[in-house]
Amino acid sequence: MPTSWAVTGASRGLGLAFVLYLSAQYPNDIVIGIVRNKSNITQASHEQLDHKNLHFVEADISDSSAASKAADTISSITGGTLDVLINNAAYNSPTTRPNKPSTFIANPELLKREMEASVATNVLGTMFITNCLVPLLKKGSLRKLITISSGNAVRNVVKDCNTANNVTYASTKATLDHIMLMYSIELKTDGIVVLGVSPGWVNTSGKECMSLAFILFFHSLLCIENTYNMLVPTDFVLKILIVTEEDYEKFKPAIDNFKRVYPWNGKILEPIESVKMILDVIQKSTIEDTGNVVSHYGNQTLWL
Ligand SMILES: NC(=O)c1ccc[n+]([C@@H]2O[C@H](COP(=O)([O-])OP(=O)(O)OC[C@H]3O[C@@H](n4cnc5c(N)ncnc54)[C@H](OP(=O)(O)O)[C@@H]3O)[C@@H](O)[C@H]2O)c1
Repeated sequence: MPTSWAVTGASRGLGLAFVLYLSAQYPNDIVIGIVRNKSNITQASHEQLDHKNLHFVEADISDSSAASKAADTISSITGGTLDVLINNAAYNSPTTRPNKPSTFIANPELLKREMEASVATNVLGTMFITNCLVPLLKKGSLRKLITISSGNAVRNVVKDCNTANNVTYASTKATLDHIMLMYSIELKTDGIVVLGVSPGWVNTSGKECMSLAFILFFHSLLCIENTYNMLVPTDFVLKILIVTEEDYEKFKPAIDNFKRVYPWNGKILEPIESVKMILDVIQKSTIEDTGNVVSHYGNQTLWL
């Protein structure tokens, strides 16, 4: 039986990597990327997109009627069922990532805007599309409802790493984890596995792939990898991924804490590396795991 997959936020980053990998790796499966706008798919070649089993369906998931229309289209492609939904789309403000809660003191309007945008996609949008697709999942054979979580949303990680940055994103991703816990309780009798998976730290910037790959290559030549010694990437690599020098200085204490608390080999993943690890976790998951949030290693100890 071919497996049917739907992935939200498939225009770029991890979502695009999911649908490209799945459609190429499993030519008999049905792979559906839910995208806000097809014209945003700019990081893939014609050849990569040219798979008969790959479909793109448009929806801004924060619009409940668009989500409902998308679900109808998906149903017509799959014949009324869905095996795996991967809730991947997310809003992460490009401007207020370094902000801690009280950084917004002087700008409550900015806080309101950023929190509303984060809730609209990360919380409501994910619930809208999930609710429209749950009836299809109930008719599927694998029955997996997966949500891409974040270490930023995991209470212990935030506490251990002493990190208060990115408050609007982190708090809405944490809310979503809580909501998914409730879905897991509701849908357990239907045999639906509800699982949150954090992807690690992934370079989804698109822009810096060439230079980053180059730096990581030299980095790997210079360093002897030893997970337990917590190989640390050059600050240069981190600076490339963080927008400005000022932002980097704001994040650095949290990054240093992270490296101190959790074993990390210092490698920032490429999307395809993270996707393969997440799919392994999804494929191994059973109803016993429902309600959990795990890392791309499938555990709650290695988060990067
Ligand atoms: N990258 C990391 O290191 C990292 C770490 C932890 C967790 N995560 C999680 O991993 C997932 C993917 O991250 P990423 O880095 O690949 O993100 P990304 O590059 O920012 O891509 C976000 C995707 O979500 C889509 N999207 C946003 N709002 C939407 C909406 N209202 N309706 C439909 N689509 C919408 C975007 O579409 P447009 O192209 O139309 O904007 C885009 O396809 C997210 O859930 C994120 O929280 C990532």
